Parts: sequence; C-alpha cells; structure tokens
Amino acid sequence: MSEKTKTSEECSRRQFFTHISIALGSIAAVMVGIPIVGSILAPIVKKPRPIWRPVGELKSFTVGDIVKVSFIDSSPLPWAGVTAETAAWLHRKGQEEFTCFAVNCAHLGCPVRWVAGAKLFMCPCHGGVYYEDGSVAAGPPPRGLYNYPVRLHNGQVEILTSPIPITTI
Ligand code: FES
Repeated sequence: MSEKTKTSEECSRRQFFTHISIALGSIAAVMVGIPIVGSILAPIVKKPRPIWRPVGELKSFTVGDIVKVSFIDSSPLPWAGVTAETAAWLHRKGQEEFTCFAVNCAHLGCPVRWVAGAKLFMCPCHGGVYYEDGSVAAGPPPRGLYNYPVRLHNGQVEILTSPIPITTI
C-alpha cells in the first residue's frame, strides 16, 4: 500500500468519525433541547382552563362543618397517576351556602389542616395560621387561603378548580 493511499484512507476515516460525532452531538442537543423549549413555551401555549369538579353530594355535608374534599387537579398531566388528585377544605355555612379553600398554603404551598377545636387552619411547614374565613392569623403567608367558587349542580356540590398561584421567593 502506497503512502499516498494510506494517507487518503486515514483522511476519509477521520472525516467519517467527524461526521458521526457531529450527527450524534446534534441528536443529543435536540433530545436535551426539546423538553427545555417545551417547558418554557408550555405556560404560554396551553393555559389550563378552570373546570367544575364534583366533590360530593349536597346531603353528605353537615351545616357548620369544615371537611376535606378531594378532586382531580384541573390540569392533570397524562402520567400524573394518583398525584393528579388534590384536596380542598369545604365549609358548609348554610343550607345552600358554601366556601371552599385550597388545601395549599398561600406561602409555599404546603397542605394546611383544619383544627376544629381551635377553629384555625394550620400550616406545618413554617407556622402559617389562618382563621376560619381563610384570612391570615399569623406566620409568613402573604395573603389568605385561595378560594374556589362553589355551585350546586344536580344534587352535587361542585367547585371551580384552577391552578393555584404559589408565592415564589
Ligand atoms: S408553606 Fe405554609 S407557612 Fe410556609
């Protein structure tokens, strides 16, 4: 094999590996780039719309009680599984009068719990406390609990669910 042929083969082998490297690098860049671009554009392209969700029959709620109800999130992802289920605190104030609070604390989103004896909602994360009407009693929450509109529909209590804006710091 002549020296010239050998050099030519090395050159074409080098070009071949250069092209393979560029192709694989491009595929990797696309695979990494698509989810990043998708996550940036998703809130702009597809805004989840509020959805009425049933949370129970009217007769199953006692006047005066505040109970936890669960429902499917307004914008569940196809792979969410059981994590698509979320909760809210429903207060039956009268025969057909309800108030519904998001279960998420208005500070950083931890689930608040209702302490009936104290008539307060308590957040376990940073000591946020809310009164029965959802307003802030103590702690870092910058505002009261978020409300869901409530309606009665065919004997069911329904709440208008939508994504909860969580404070970012
Ligand atoms: S998340 Fe509730 S007080 Fe911080």
